[in-house]
Formats: sequence, structure tokens, C-alpha cells
Amino acid sequence: MLKITFNGHSNFHFDDGARQLLIDPWFGGNPKAKARPTDYDQIDLVLVTHGHRDHLGDAVEISKKYQAPIVAPFELAMYCQRRGALVHPMNHGGERRYDFCTVKMTNAVHSSSFVDKGAEYTGNPCGFILEMGGRKVYYTGDTALFGDMKLIAEMESPEIMMLPIGSIYTMGARDAAKAVEFVGPKYVIPMHYATFEVLDQNPDSFASHLKNLPAELVVLGVGESREFGG
Ligand code: NI
Ligand code: MN
Repeated sequence: MLKITFNGHSNFHFDDGARQLLIDPWFGGNPKAKARPTDYDQIDLVLVTHGHRDHLGDAVEISKKYQAPIVAPFELAMYCQRRGALVHPMNHGGERRYDFCTVKMTNAVHSSSFVDKGAEYTGNPCGFILEMGGRKVYYTGDTALFGDMKLIAEMESPEIMMLPIGSIYTMGARDAAKAVEFVGPKYVIPMHYATFEVLDQNPDSFASHLKNLPAELVVLGVGESREFGG
């Protein structure tokens, strides 16, 4: 069993009934988030795709509070470590096995820095193949459409695909539908829309582009969950 809960933007909580993890845990300053990072009884792992504030979010504080390692691209992991987080650095193509999940780091076509007073380089952005609760998920991270998604699909055959659809900073609806065609998942969960005014405000256009594909579109409202059984 794998239960996936949407916290707004690209922030998702994963629960297999015994263990829990967060991906791109942006709570503070997220205009859509209803949950807080302190709401959980435990967090075992935190996955972060890149250094942008809307993804790194509260990862460092969450790592400290729950003693949960942050899995991130090497430079971003070092950035978090310097701020006191537990880290498990990785790089693209690598895989880490945990007792409750496996995490593989995939490419993403995007940028990555943490912009505060200056901009700090935080490595190359990534996506993740996550195996947990008997399910395999491809969480693309912020990315453009790219042809090697076909290669990822050939190697991993993910059942659930989670991808940005909002345009401007990532794929928009039409390209995202092509990404779904490339990967061929059973379920599709859209993200990275409606948070900012410049992004697409709803998944309607994405849904219409998906029409002729067999994938089931799973639109989660903020705070909503979907349980994938088995
Ligand atoms: Ni970004
Ligand atoms: Mn983003």
C-alpha cells in the first residue's frame, strides 16, 4: 500500500502504513499549503529535487526535527549539511536502498540554486524513481519535456507518474501529456500549477491533452490523498 497526500505545489507526503517520507517539502511561504511540517508523528526520509525555495522549502528544519536524512543531489546535500541537516547525497543515475524504499536519481532539465542574499549553486536538478509500499513512482521534479524519459520508462516501468504541468518554469500541459505518452504510467498525478499567478491555474488543459492516453488522471486537491492498494 502506498498513500500519497498532496500538500500543494510539488510537496507530497508518502506513507506505506509504517514509514513516511516527504518530497520537496515546501510548507512555510507556500500559499497553497494547509499542513505544517510539524504535523507528522514521524518522517523517515526527505527527498529534494533541487535548491529552488519552492522545493527545498523546510527540508533542513524537517531533517533536524525528525532525524530524517535528506536525499538530494550532492551539492544541495552539502548545502543542507552545512545548515545542520542529516544528508544522503546522491548523483544522477545512482540508487540508494533503504529498508522500506529504494530511491534512484534521474535527470531533469531545469536549473538549481538557492537565492537568498546571493545565489548559491546547489548542483544539477533531478527527479526520482521511488519504490515504496509495493509501488513504483516516477516523480520528475521541475523539468522540461525530454526524450530520455523514454529511456527511464524502459528501464523502470513506473506505475505512477508525478509531473509539473503549470508551464513558465516547467513543462506546460501539452508537453506534459507527451511526457506521459513517453513513460506510459497507469496513474498520473499533476503538480506545480495554480501556486503562482503565472502558472496554469487548473489541470483542464492537461486533462484534454491526455484524453487519448490510457493513463488515469489523479487530480489531488490540497490535503487530499490517494491510496494505491496492494
Ligand atoms: Ni525550480
Ligand atoms: Mn519550482
